[in-house]
Amino acid sequence: MQLSEEDLVARGKLRSVYKFPNNEELLLKLAEVEDGVETQTGLRGYLKRHYPYARYRNMFCEMEHETKIQMHAMLKGVRSPIAPTRGMVSSQKNLGLLVKQVSQKDGSIGLTLDELFAQDMFDEKALTALNEFAQLFFKLGIVAGDVHAKNIVWGDLEGELTPFLVDGYSDKNFIPLKTYIPWVRYRKLHKCFAQMAKKIGCEWVRSERVFKKIDDEQA
Ligand SMILES: Nc1ncnc2c1ncn2[C@@H]1O[C@H](COP(=O)(O)OP(=O)(O)OP(=O)(O)O)[C@@H](O)[C@H]1O
Ligand SMILES: [Mg+2]
Repeated sequence: MQLSEEDLVARGKLRSVYKFPNNEELLLKLAEVEDGVETQTGLRGYLKRHYPYARYRNMFCEMEHETKIQMHAMLKGVRSPIAPTRGMVSSQKNLGLLVKQVSQKDGSIGLTLDELFAQDMFDEKALTALNEFAQLFFKLGIVAGDVHAKNIVWGDLEGELTPFLVDGYSDKNFIPLKTYIPWVRYRKLHKCFAQMAKKIGCEWVRSERVFKKIDDEQA
């Protein structure tokens, strides 16, 4: 599959996000091809040379975690707050992770939480939706170590503006403590939500697990 630079949506530190050719509903996340693996020393270098899986481990962990969360969500009768993954696809550059694009009603790509906030669209309804979204992390056992306003994208779900996590989830540690010990997982979530709250004019109330607007508090 051929990707063109015109299809580039975002370029992060470690990977780039492209529109998937001929399908408006999908995006492809491509890790940069790593140079120097042949001469890399230590355990990491050894594993990457001898086990092809090691180079794609991050992507695989994300796909696996997202799939498990969908299963939990189905069994609990709630929605999954993570943008659905659609498997791996090879392109001329590298193997990539295919994901469903979080889209607005008109089909255009959704706004991130920081864009929504900057455009004065973070109203009471959006706050309620964000709190429902946050509750799902605790209910479904989501491991997320990098939840911030740029990794949350708002899209249309049955006519409602709804947030989805698009990045920064899954347990990539060799010993997956966050997967098995809830308080370790919760500690990180509280930290991420508290940091994020400051960027969107809120505070994270840990005991209630909710975001509250700061001006409402003071009124
Ligand atoms: N499923 C999606 N639907 C809509 N937009 C998305 C989706 N996934 C990613 N994006 C957009 O692409 C941007 C970058 O995506 P992502 O955070 O996954 O890439 P990244 O390279 O890991 O970035 P970084 O390492 O800098 O966090 C997001 O901030 C968002 O604007
Ligand atoms: Mg990101």
